[in-house]
Amino acid sequence: MDRNYALEFVRVTEAAAIASARLMGRGDEKAADHAAVESMRMLLSSINFDGTVVIGEGERDEAPMLYIGEKVGTGEGAKLDLALDPLEGTTICANGANNSISVIAIAEQGHFLHAPDTYMDKIAVGPAAKGCISLDVSATENIKRVAEAKKCALDELTVVILDRPRHQDLIQEVRSTGARIYLIGDGDVSAAIATARPETGVDLLIGNGGAPEGVISAAALRCLGGDFVGRLTFRNEEEKSRASRMGIKDFDRTYSLHDLASGKVMFCATGVTDGTFLKGVRMTPGGAKTHSMVMRSESGTVRYVEADHRFDHKPSWK
Ligand code: FBP
Repeated sequence: MDRNYALEFVRVTEAAAIASARLMGRGDEKAADHAAVESMRMLLSSINFDGTVVIGEGERDEAPMLYIGEKVGTGEGAKLDLALDPLEGTTICANGANNSISVIAIAEQGHFLHAPDTYMDKIAVGPAAKGCISLDVSATENIKRVAEAKKCALDELTVVILDRPRHQDLIQEVRSTGARIYLIGDGDVSAAIATARPETGVDLLIGNGGAPEGVISAAALRCLGGDFVGRLTFRNEEEKSRASRMGIKDFDRTYSLHDLASGKVMFCATGVTDGTFLKGVRMTPGGAKTHSMVMRSESGTVRYVEADHRFDHKPSWK
C-alpha cells in the first residue's frame, strides 16, 4: 500500500470532521452524522483507488451512503478495503462533549473482518500490556495482568468503561480491584486508541460496545503496537442471522488483533470535539483548524497533523 495514501485519506477525515463540527452542540445527531458522511463520501471519490467499504454506515437497505459493499474512489489503482466511521460519537458531537472523531482505517482487500452491526465484548490495551489480555478470564485477572506488565499498582491503573446499565456488574468488579475508572458516555474507538497513547493516562478499555467499532479499534491498535481482543455478542436470532449473512460461522469465536485487521493497515483520525489525544475542530474567521493522527502498521510511525483550512480557497472536488 502506497504510503502517500496517508495524506490523501487524512484530507477525508479532516473534511468530515469539519462538516460535523459545524453542527456541534445542536442536539441533532442525525444532522451531524449526515454532514460527516456526505463530506467523507465526496472526498473519497476524488482519490485514485479501487475501494470497498467493509465497515461503514450499515447495510445497503438502511444506509444510503457509505454502506457496506459500496465502491468508493475513482476505481483506478490499488484495491483497498475501508473500515470507516465518518462521525464516531454522534451523541458526543450533538452535545458538544469530548472525544468524537472522524476515522478511516484502510487495508488491502480481504484483511478486515466483515463484522456485523451487533455488539462485541472487547478489551484494548497499549504496547506495554500486549499479549496479556484475554476474554476467557475475569476483568479482575485482566487488570492484574496489565498492572504486572506495566509494573504498577492496581490503583494506579485507569480503566475506561462505557457507562451503560449492561456494565453494572463489570463496573462493580473493576471498582473492587481498586483500579480507577473513567466512565464514558460514548466513543469506545477513541478510548481504545487512548490506551496506547501515554499522554492520555488510560490503561485499558473493557466492556461491550459496537462490533464495527471493534474492527476500527483493532486497526488503530495494529498501527500503535497495542492489543485488542473481541467476541461478538448477540441479543436475538435476527442479529445471529445478520452475522451469518456476513460470513460469520462460529458465533463464540474470540478474535485477536490480527483476526480483525491483518496485513498492512493505515489509519487516519481527525478530532471533531476536543479529546484526550486529538484537539477538536476550531472554527476560525473564514476557515477552520483541524488536528489529526495518521499512522501505518508497516512503519509504526504515528504522525499528528495540524492543518489550517481556508474556505475561500475552493478545492477542486467542490
Ligand atoms: P455512534 O457514533 O454510532 O453514535 O456510536 C457511539 C458508540 O458509543 C460507540 O463508540 C460504541 O461502540 C457504541 O456506540 C456503543 O453502543 P450503545 O450506545 O448502543 O451502547
